[in-house]
Amino acid sequence: MRVCVVGTGYVGLVTGACLAAIGHHVLCIDNNAEKVARMQAGQSPIYEPGLEIVMQRAMQAGNLVFSTDLAMGVAHGEILFIAVGTPALPTGESDTRFVEAVARGIGEHLNGGYKVIVNKSTVPIGSGDWVRRIVLDGVADRQSDIAGFDVVSNPEFLREGSAVYDTMNPDRIVLGSDSPRAIQMMQALYAPIVARTYAADKSLPPVPVVVTDLASAEMIKYAANAFLATKISFINEVANICDRVGADITQVAHGIGLDSRIGHKFLQAGIGWGGSCFPKDVSALVHTAHDYGYEAQLLQATIRTNQQQRLLVVEKLQQALKILKGKTIGLLGLTFKPNTDDLRDAPALDVIEHLVRLGASVKAFDPIVADSNHPGLAKVTLTPTAEALAKGCDALVLMTDWPEFQHLNFDRLAPQMNHAIVIDGRNFLDPQTLEIAGFHYIGIGRPTSVNGVVAQLMQLSKSATLVESAA
Ligand code: UDX
Ligand code: UDX
Repeated sequence: MRVCVVGTGYVGLVTGACLAAIGHHVLCIDNNAEKVARMQAGQSPIYEPGLEIVMQRAMQAGNLVFSTDLAMGVAHGEILFIAVGTPALPTGESDTRFVEAVARGIGEHLNGGYKVIVNKSTVPIGSGDWVRRIVLDGVADRQSDIAGFDVVSNPEFLREGSAVYDTMNPDRIVLGSDSPRAIQMMQALYAPIVARTYAADKSLPPVPVVVTDLASAEMIKYAANAFLATKISFINEVANICDRVGADITQVAHGIGLDSRIGHKFLQAGIGWGGSCFPKDVSALVHTAHDYGYEAQLLQATIRTNQQQRLLVVEKLQQALKILKGKTIGLLGLTFKPNTDDLRDAPALDVIEHLVRLGASVKAFDPIVADSNHPGLAKVTLTPTAEALAKGCDALVLMTDWPEFQHLNFDRLAPQMNHAIVIDGRNFLDPQTLEIAGFHYIGIGRPTSVNGVVAQLMQLSKSATLVESAA
């Protein structure tokens, strides 16, 4: 089928490339000419594992092209995806001006056959009818020129860092529309994915397709993200209680996760959630509820808990080092999660601002963010390696659970530091490994070592064993 995707960000580019990979003819439009030039050269402007190879293969097959020309995109596509950004405004509500601009532009260029216009961007509930009105504004008095269109809500559930996999192996596909014709076209579009033709496990039953009305489809997106965010804030709250009663949150999470109604996923306690979706989607849902006269107290608490959680590492640093003024703190990881270059609403940015305000010097090592003109990193010294990071630091703080951080040579990092202290903001490291390397390990809701006493005992027992075996 002929597809146009407008907006080639984390969602639009992955959606366009994957639809091209399953055989559709996709034209991706973006108003950022520099981005388009890079994509035309087969380069992905974002870091997303596997995306570039999918793009390049689809381009070689002649199924994927890029342009800044929206008119050409509208003429080409029988299905037009709107996948531009919907960031959160300071008030918490969604900023939908980009969606509005694109919807109007589509209306202005509509002049061919029947079209399906798809909201891929996360738009406030009730936006489906609003998009229809905006498109008609663009059509203006040329209604007789167009063969009609319908709007579909097709929310994305992609996780950054696994967006290509999630597109090809979705748990479900959600289609919201009041037009059977539009639904039928969308089901034809996704048929290969539903049939698991490109799935990692082809033996699985077909992907469930939820066909519903526009508002319910939009609510499914918001409710899913709000629930996942709430599950994380829940385990973080329990972790904070564990800190006080001496329980181990990793054991607690394992114990409750064995209940099939709870499950183990999204029970990793730490500094909480960031990124371009959870923060904006939860606050947008709270805002929508308020607009309709309902105070979503649970979701407001989910947001509050999360905001406090990220600064917990600063409190733990103050407990360990007392005065932070003049101290040097090294951050392991900057992005809001591993396998992405996305710094949007990353907890590290708030922690940096707080540490700088307290007079500390901040260094950081991130495997992907090697140099950045991000304003939030202006006062941060980026280092090329973890060893360079550790040099002269008074403490290390793990902010992002990059797998490679579990295999750092901590024996060599400890001697480089003024104080061998590590705050594990994601409960990602092994306390014993760190303690044997001479670190004072501090987790979130995890028993902490007492100045490495455990490590010394372990070291003693290790050397005692050696003496015995030598005798
Ligand atoms: C976006 C929304 O933020 C998110 O709510 C939704 O779930 C998926 O789409 P993302 O892909 O991260 O997420 O957006 P972003 O990375 O900001 O990319 C948007 C792209 O649209 C950018 O490349 C931008 O250049 C482009 N754009 C923006 C246009 O082409 N035209 C516009 O008018 C505005
Ligand atoms: C999320 C949703 O998972 C996805 O379905 C939706 O389409 C977009 O938003 P994403 O934001 O890319 O995806 O990342 P995700 O893996 O969900 O993690 C979000 C945040 O929660 C990250 O900051 C992560 O560190 C944090 N997190 C996740 C936890 O703190 N604990 C967990 O157990 C899981």
